[in-house]
Amino acid sequence: MNDLAVEVKGLSVRFGDFYAVNGISFTVRRGETFGFLGANGAGKTTTIRVLCGLLRPSEGLVSVGGISFDHNEQAVKAKVGYMSQKFTLYNDMTVEENLNFTASLRKMEKATYEQRRKELFDFISFDKPLNTLVRDLSGGTKQQVSLAAALLHDPEIIFLDEPTAGVTPASRSRFWQLIRQLAKRNKTVFVTTHYMDEAEQCDRIALMREGRIIALDSPEGLKTAAFSTPMLEFDPRGSLSFAEVSAFARHDVFLFFEPYGLRFHAAIKSEDAWETVRNGFEKNFTIKRIKPSLEDVFIQIVEGKAG
Ligand SMILES: Nc1ncnc2c1ncn2[C@@H]1O[C@H](COP(=O)(O)OP(=O)(O)OP(=O)(O)O)[C@@H](O)[C@H]1O
Ligand SMILES: [Mg+2]
Repeated sequence: MNDLAVEVKGLSVRFGDFYAVNGISFTVRRGETFGFLGANGAGKTTTIRVLCGLLRPSEGLVSVGGISFDHNEQAVKAKVGYMSQKFTLYNDMTVEENLNFTASLRKMEKATYEQRRKELFDFISFDKPLNTLVRDLSGGTKQQVSLAAALLHDPEIIFLDEPTAGVTPASRSRFWQLIRQLAKRNKTVFVTTHYMDEAEQCDRIALMREGRIIALDSPEGLKTAAFSTPMLEFDPRGSLSFAEVSAFARHDVFLFFEPYGLRFHAAIKSEDAWETVRNGFEKNFTIKRIKPSLEDVFIQIVEGKAG
């Protein structure tokens, strides 16, 4: 059996003259949690819509669950679940009516549907009456019921497009517990997010920019590749003027020196520069060596490719 859940080669999606997706290639392994990151308009949702069979590519080859769309679109659709970025439940219908509707779209048999619904409500620990109106659920619970709807037909591959946008930190963390459980059951999870703590939890991450993939690796791999030299954190001992900070930032031992909250993160050019930095900066800052965060990595990658 093919070990790849998703295979994309040279995919482009054009709207008129505009390339929303511009020649991307990547694969996702079965059972992998694959993160898709990028600024607004980078092309993430467009890519997902192609992978779910909702949009035809302008160019390129796509296969999902080992089947090419050209061969059997219906068979592919049966393998994928999709929680779209825009809200997927009807607010003025009850939870039960929403799921009934999804089941009817999927042409599920009644007994199978009722069994699955029960399993999924256990999975998300849903403890409200089935006749609760969706509009009366909290944001976090709505997202979980949306997830249940996307999982109803037991898909192998689940596409989650910003599933945790706009919910509380506690709900985000709960949602990621569910994602981890899906991964344990060998489901492939393809998820977009703007949150770095969520990206850290993915097996691999693709970073998109203007329709292209500009980096793709595990979180650790990205960090190692972006920062082969030491990363330092500078915590100011007192208040510093903008002019002072700019002068520090221009020092030629640094690859970069960027604000990070009230502190600064910097990468130095080599191990040898460490002494120079300590001698020159300890008067103004407490300095410690740190592991780069994913945010550091993305700033580095995006700035490295800018212009
Ligand atoms: N049907 C369409 N017609 C024309 N342009 C479109 C269409 N759908 C998307 N686009 C454009 O394609 C680009 C990529 O959009 P897409 O929704 O894929 O981005 P995204 O990475 O999901 O962004 P976000 O983080 O805001 O969700 C955007 O510039 C968008 O305006
Ligand atoms: Mg989007």
